[in-house]
Amino acid sequence: MSKIIPEAIENLSPYVPGRLLEDVQAELGLPDIIKLASNENSLGASPRALEAMADALKNIHRYGDADARALKKALSEKYGYDPASIVTGNGSSEFILVLAHALTGPGLSAVMSKPSFTLYSKNVQAAGGLVREAPLTADYGHDLEALLKLVDDSTRLVFLDNPLNPTGAYLEPEALLSFYEKLPETALLVVDEAYIEFARKPKVDWPALKSPERVVVMRTFSKVFGLAGLRVAYALMDPGLAAAINKVRQPFNMNTLAQVGAAAALTDDDFIERTLKMTWESLDYLTAEFKALGLNPYPTEANFMMVGLDGRSADDVFQAVLHKGVITRSLTSFGLSKHLRVNAGQPNESEALVRAVKAVL
Ligand SMILES: Cc1ncc(COP(=O)(O)O)c(C=O)c1O
Repeated sequence: MSKIIPEAIENLSPYVPGRLLEDVQAELGLPDIIKLASNENSLGASPRALEAMADALKNIHRYGDADARALKKALSEKYGYDPASIVTGNGSSEFILVLAHALTGPGLSAVMSKPSFTLYSKNVQAAGGLVREAPLTADYGHDLEALLKLVDDSTRLVFLDNPLNPTGAYLEPEALLSFYEKLPETALLVVDEAYIEFARKPKVDWPALKSPERVVVMRTFSKVFGLAGLRVAYALMDPGLAAAINKVRQPFNMNTLAQVGAAAALTDDDFIERTLKMTWESLDYLTAEFKALGLNPYPTEANFMMVGLDGRSADDVFQAVLHKGVITRSLTSFGLSKHLRVNAGQPNESEALVRAVKAVL
């Protein structure tokens, strides 16, 4: 197929998702597996979302609203965004794909950290664009100076996941906004706030700033709202850019259940509160326990944390912990071969993780 498939796509390595619970169950023959590998919500999904979607099923034979107006209205009511600046999508992954294909291509570049969320580089590469990556700082955060040095007049996109996946590092508003000020007018800053709701430190108030013109802020319902399998996200951007993106996305990119479920989840304050409480308690507990075991948990503002294994191989510890019934994420494929990533869980899950790690060290 080499005459048909472009070289850039031929050379792409596929996205590696966290392991599916059912697959691990079948492989190990263990009935109770705990999954703390994909930064999902361990409490489940927003009950209000589930109820609203069950009700919406009766109309599923109809096409949904191609403009997701009810969801945009709900977002605008909750956060104060201008509906014309909101684009909704089939997960933030869709925005990454559409932005990469619409704005980069041969001769045009995108700048990002390495490691950071792997879909940035994959989509830019698939679009035929140039991927420029800066290594992280010594404390595993975005190296803003190194990133700036990679930006030139070929650069159309600069990706910053904040908090950063997989390390949990965080940029506070001042650092983020002064970085934006230094970018040339030909580059768009894409701030991926997939985990922003979990941050305990100050956050950028985008509506109050009237969304700077060349910034796209991506948010997802996959994490705090517990709707990862539904595939729903939104992005805030300049209305002119929103109009352009709306022309190239699929017309019915967001299915009806996703629209209805997400709008209901936004109103589920009780579930959001319980999620944050569980997450923060779990992260604080895991930090203390890992430290007591002589490991190196890194500070995090997300719903997951990176743990340094004191020189042990991440793949070995991952396998050993897996055989104790807990799925974590080895960061070897991110270039961090002595580090694991684990997400927050309910108390019994966090305790099982600590027991498993203790047993295999
Ligand atoms: C930094 C980051 N951005 C985006 C996503 C994907 O989110 P979605 O489920 O909305 O596609 C993830 C998923 O893990 C992520 O870690």
